Amino acid sequence: MIGEEEKNEVLEVLNTGHLSRYGSDEDPKFLHKVYSLEQEFAKRTGASHCVAVSSGTGALMACLTAVGIKPGDEVLVPGYTFVASFSSIIAIGAVPVMVEVDDSLTMDVADAREKTTSKTRAIMPVHMLGNPSNMDAITALAKEKGLFLIEDCCQALGASYKGQMLGTFGEMGAFSLNNFKVINSGDGGLLITNDHSLYERAFGFHDQGHMPLRKGSEIGKRSLIGINMRMNELTGAFALAQLRKLDFILHSLRTKKDRFKRGIQSAHLEGLQFRTINDPGECATLLTILLEDVTSAQKVAEVLGTKTVDKSGWHVYNNMEQILAYKDRDGRKLYEKHMLPKTDDLVSRAVNLSIGVVDSGLGTDFGINILSTDSEIDRKAEQFIKLVKPIIG
Ligand SMILES: Cc1ncc(COP(=O)(O)O)c(C=O)c1O
Repeated sequence: MIGEEEKNEVLEVLNTGHLSRYGSDEDPKFLHKVYSLEQEFAKRTGASHCVAVSSGTGALMACLTAVGIKPGDEVLVPGYTFVASFSSIIAIGAVPVMVEVDDSLTMDVADAREKTTSKTRAIMPVHMLGNPSNMDAITALAKEKGLFLIEDCCQALGASYKGQMLGTFGEMGAFSLNNFKVINSGDGGLLITNDHSLYERAFGFHDQGHMPLRKGSEIGKRSLIGINMRMNELTGAFALAQLRKLDFILHSLRTKKDRFKRGIQSAHLEGLQFRTINDPGECATLLTILLEDVTSAQKVAEVLGTKTVDKSGWHVYNNMEQILAYKDRDGRKLYEKHMLPKTDDLVSRAVNLSIGVVDSGLGTDFGINILSTDSEIDRKAEQFIKLVKPIIG
């Protein structure tokens, strides 16, 4: 999905030679691509404010800092996610508390409730593989317990739940523009909020404490200590062209996934389910199947030339040695392998099929892609049935 539009946007910036996100409005060479990206993304999500940053990890850190998460505070986060959901919390000194997932492979809200303690300050649902978390239950829990709600939307840019865009349910939402995401600029991130003071704080954290959209060094106006995770104009220009394709990309993914899924369903294979999708506004980047037991799941994965989710890479906490080894400020080890039995059971019986995201780290070695034609999709579904039917009948 990279073409003339991206080239033209980037060339415009190259031709002026102005690469920083800041510049004078009077300077014809300053094309404010990063600012335009922020404006267009805020409009697209219905949020009042957006800050473009250098990664999804950075976006999460800026959100956590903006709401005031402090060292020692606990943040609820699901055990099936990318490592950045944990590392962003640890990087600001707070404590990720791992929560089970349910058969949507997103946060199990009953377990989140169980794990809420007097130290819990925030809940961070992850809309995993494009699937919205159960936002009715999560917003209710956050409200009841007085928790900040920060949505990790890194894998779900453009998705919605009951008509409302993800990222707008709580205080803040964070998105990634890395190589494997719905739209990408190689690397990059976005965060959104409806709260002006959170916007100012997140903006400041992303740029050495400065107030939004500074025009100079602005000494005397910095209210917090920030770091540098600014996006430059080349990345902003590229991301802008990608954002303008978002509706087309999502429509293609949803249409192709629907066809592929219906093709597989036509065989009425016993013992094969699909993970629960919490809202049709999902991104449709992947199709996840759930088998009845581990043995058949492994055989199915093998004939498809792929792996079950637990064995496919780094999105399951059991495979994150650096997180498992982590000790808190008091030297306590917080995590151990197989501490989430429900999640372990689900991911050992799950296989991800690709629709748009082709990432062997997610175990998507079998499936279709965003360019697949109808007849290619039908052939893939037939191939799936032919390979899987002998195993699960
Ligand atoms: C769920 C989730 N959270 C956070 C991130 C971090 O995003 P980035 O790679 O842009 O830092 C990712 C990206 O892989 C992700 O999938």
